Amino acid sequence: MTDLHLPIDRAAGRLAAQIAAGFRAAIRSGRLTAGTRLPSSRDLARDMDVSRGVVVTAYEQLIAEGFLLARRGDGTRVAPLARPDAPPPAARQQAWPAEPAAETPPGGPDGAFAYDMWPSQPDLAAFPRERWAAAVRASLRALPNEELGYPDPGGVPALRAELAGYLGRVRAANADPDQIVIMNGVAHGLSAVVRMLVGDGHRELAVEDPTSNRQLPMLDAAGARLARVPVDAEGVDVAALARTEARAILVTPAHQYPTGVVLSPGRRAALIAWARDVDGLIIEDDYDAEFRYDREPVGCLQGIDPDRVVLLGSVSKALAPALRLGWAVAPPKPADRLRTHRAHNDLGAPVLEQHALAAFISTGGYDRHLRTMRRQYRARRDVLVEALAEHVPGVRVHGVSAGIHLYVELPPGTDEAAVVAAAARLGVSVGGAAGMWGPGRDGTAPPALVLGYGRLGESRLAQAAELLGRAIAREARG
Ligand SMILES: Cc1ncc(COP(=O)(O)O)c(C=O)c1O
Repeated sequence: MTDLHLPIDRAAGRLAAQIAAGFRAAIRSGRLTAGTRLPSSRDLARDMDVSRGVVVTAYEQLIAEGFLLARRGDGTRVAPLARPDAPPPAARQQAWPAEPAAETPPGGPDGAFAYDMWPSQPDLAAFPRERWAAAVRASLRALPNEELGYPDPGGVPALRAELAGYLGRVRAANADPDQIVIMNGVAHGLSAVVRMLVGDGHRELAVEDPTSNRQLPMLDAAGARLARVPVDAEGVDVAALARTEARAILVTPAHQYPTGVVLSPGRRAALIAWARDVDGLIIEDDYDAEFRYDREPVGCLQGIDPDRVVLLGSVSKALAPALRLGWAVAPPKPADRLRTHRAHNDLGAPVLEQHALAAFISTGGYDRHLRTMRRQYRARRDVLVEALAEHVPGVRVHGVSAGIHLYVELPPGTDEAAVVAAAARLGVSVGGAAGMWGPGRDGTAPPALVLGYGRLGESRLAQAAELLGRAIAREARG
């Protein structure tokens, strides 16, 4: 295999990421077909004049994402699921009737605690106010008067183009600007997609067990009937999914919420095979995927099968939830239906903010902010994990080094609600996991806390862990 033609720019650095991107493009374009055997890491490293470790890293990334398969004795091959792009034949598209909307406000944290570890909030104090203001000013200066009218309900072209590039580069998404619809966050995208599915007669929606309880009222309001599917150390159990009636599932493959596990390569392949089998749809909630600390984040599932996946993302964890800016990357027909949904329900997202985000991405401000926050969150996570080990004996931290929350299993028999209340009395706001489990597990799941560490500095996190230790010890004494 001598003609791979993987162009790399040595001056740009991140050679493994460049090589991985070259392989993805080759697989998607059909230049590399399923089953094709790839050169050994040693041979490819020699051909490309890079270190073997660089190729090994690229191969590992692509195996984790499901593009490649490695078997002992059989080398590394292009996975059968990773098929090339194809024009969307009409026969493959489902009907997607739109539904009128009714918004449900999310339940929220308190604000009045000395140590606010309520999950799901980024560090709001780190919002890049000056650089965002500069992006808004620049956009306003450049914006022609005509653009102050009603926008394209699917989003302004400049932002969709920037996002297509960004999501391809950072999330290995297969994103065409025409298939991106700007939404007011993941929540909005989720509500809209589920309403369409329900309108289409698909009320049964599979969700992970446990799952984000913030989304439950939205799914309920959209008319979905939930089928809970257990999550284990490899992510959602696809065999259990196949036993449900559902033909659509909401998943968090890059970093399961709340347990923090990553969907394994085998399960990724099985999930996509399931979707193809039942002619179904995967709704991929990519809520905090930019934040992986021990390695490159696994690329999104949408990049493997853009015909079967709607990718939902937003700037809520990367910048601030208050912006209410997000996106859906969908197959062509559902993307059209989402655009129509916006046209029929709210006439689109605020234009100035969309342009500001486009400018923020194109000038490198978004990447720079993410790099800074990755360093900070990683340090905060490490401190919290260490302090919990010191102050809270018997707890078990789940999940990979990623995101802005920890899922912490308490010693068996601990009264989770009593610990949450005792922590609150000591000034520490934490989430309990009980409400995130489905009816079958809510009394029997191991007691656990969900700790947001995004908003506290390192020393305050260490203090909070000590207070949590006290709360748990008090509860254990009764
Ligand atoms: C797992 C998960 N997905 C999605 C959301 C909603 O995000 P957005 O602000 O993009 O609507 C949240 C919010 O807390 C979340 O925890």
